[in-house]
Amino acid sequence: MSKFFVPQDYAAIRTSTLIPDRVLGTDVYALINGKAVKWALGGQSLEKSRIRKLRDFKIRKLLIQKSDESAYRSYIEESLDFTLNDPNIKVEEKVNASSGAAEMAYDELSKNPESEASYKTSSMYFAKLGHVLESLEDGIGAVLKIPFVAEQYDNAAHGLQVAALSLSLCRSMGLIRSEDHRCAIITGCFMHDLALDIEGLARQDMPMVREARDPVWLNHTKKAAALMGDKNHVHPQVLEIILQHEESPDGKGFPLGLRANEMDKVALIVGLCNRFEHQVVQQNGDRFKAMELLFREQLGCYELEQLSALQKIVHAYASPSAKSDTTE
Ligand SMILES: [Fe+2]
Ligand SMILES: [Fe+2]
Repeated sequence: MSKFFVPQDYAAIRTSTLIPDRVLGTDVYALINGKAVKWALGGQSLEKSRIRKLRDFKIRKLLIQKSDESAYRSYIEESLDFTLNDPNIKVEEKVNASSGAAEMAYDELSKNPESEASYKTSSMYFAKLGHVLESLEDGIGAVLKIPFVAEQYDNAAHGLQVAALSLSLCRSMGLIRSEDHRCAIITGCFMHDLALDIEGLARQDMPMVREARDPVWLNHTKKAAALMGDKNHVHPQVLEIILQHEESPDGKGFPLGLRANEMDKVALIVGLCNRFEHQVVQQNGDRFKAMELLFREQLGCYELEQLSALQKIVHAYASPSAKSDTTE
């Protein structure tokens, strides 16, 4: 899949940010043959079936006019709060809405990783996702049930899965110290591969990149940390996750070859969830097979307790048919 083309005077929006039955504040356009064609009118609400159709056709981005960006942002904020606060709205819809907003937050921060304003805005959406995943009983499960679609897999989709798994594992191990810390863990999970094009990796053979010791691959942790910058507004946990997620408890990871006792505990868990998620990509979305292989490969490297905790989550939530399951 080629990169999404954005015509002049337009801005891309993720279809995951569209919320059913909420009035759009702006016109929305589809990209057809390189041109923006009006798809939905501002002032109207979108039916669930119309949004689902986009997903069925694997359309993950649409367009708005650049001048409407702040109006679209207001639509997301209001719709998200409404969806999260309405007790009659299903868990899946709450998770979809907060995941879409968090994916948009990733887009925003990845464009301006050094910006304090972008960091603060994005953190607000990451915090909302954290709250949803922690407070709703099946929140984590709803993320793990999102079907893997190779054509739609990018850094934000990868970050979302790593965040949900890491949050669940960190919670079960008592590693989350506060709401602020929880938000930092999610931010780190979304931003960990900032200097790597996951979309590109998903299209290619990832083990080849690892075996070749490709410099882009080997430098992506340090480069991402440098892009975010060691600044006061960035929570130290975010940088620890970015810098250490490719380290391995047996000392065979990079960039420093740290061993388990030298690693940050949360970063170690995120690294494990990240390895699992990369395995999911290689197994074309088969989370059960990915878990089986990861268990075999990493036993002796990670502690049995850590691998078993991850396995428990995967087996509890992931649907064996998730790859082709498009129902809600
Ligand atoms: Fe990475
Ligand atoms: Fe990753």
